[in-house]
Amino acid sequence: MNIVLLGAPGAGKGTQAAKLVEEFGTPHISTGDILRAAVKNQTELGKKAKSYMDAGELVPDSLIIDLMNERLQEPDAAKGFILDGFPRTTAQAVSLDALLSQLKRPLDGALLVDVPFDAIVDRLTSRRCCKDCGAIGTVADASCPKCGGEMYQRDDDNEATVRNRLSVYERSTSPLIDYYKGKGLLLTVDGNRPVDTVYADVKALLDL
Ligand code: AP5
Repeated sequence: MNIVLLGAPGAGKGTQAAKLVEEFGTPHISTGDILRAAVKNQTELGKKAKSYMDAGELVPDSLIIDLMNERLQEPDAAKGFILDGFPRTTAQAVSLDALLSQLKRPLDGALLVDVPFDAIVDRLTSRRCCKDCGAIGTVADASCPKCGGEMYQRDDDNEATVRNRLSVYERSTSPLIDYYKGKGLLLTVDGNRPVDTVYADVKALLDL
């Protein structure tokens, strides 16, 4: 499976990707996770990305495109990939097409997890993530439901930054819905339902 997950911040892309990884073992490549690890480890990339991420703005295409060109050529991605958070601009999508065409690994689909914005602010301000294994949970989880680790709130999950992330999504990323529709690759799932109901439809849409 070679797929792109599309959808607003908090639509549930990471949650659905985690379920696909658990069941099918396909590599999950999340630009947000890669960037957060770079910030934590204070790498050159992390130092450049941090201020954009804290403000809810996109990290410049030049940094992301090089990063993903390298990541997609690592051996594990030859088995397939679930791209989460990339591409996020038309320039990123065009660059991804060029790379995949060069590697002769076409996309099977671009899956849009569709959730109305008014449901998203609540979801993101109450999201908590595990410091140890990265599992996604909510404020109701006193400890990680997967490994028992400590939960924390992402720096960009405060209400003001969430609202800016939604504006950035609308302006820069939502045009990709038409981009992939035009290529006949768009699949849409209603993400405003319980996680397992969404997942059942995700599998049906992907013929899994
Ligand atoms: P990134 O980490 O990609 O954040 P995002 O797109 O804003 O997406 P999220 O991780 O916030 O949401 P999600 O859809 O995965 O939702 P989740 O499953 O966690 O990017 C962060 C930043 O990095 C960006 O702002 C930017 O600065 C930078 N960046 C990253 N990629 C970039 C790129 N390509 N170019 C430039 N910059 C880039 O779910 C959210 C919550 O909802 C959780 O609490 C979950 O438990 C809950 N939930 C999930 N599904 C359901 C459901 N069905 N019902 C109820 N609750 C649910």
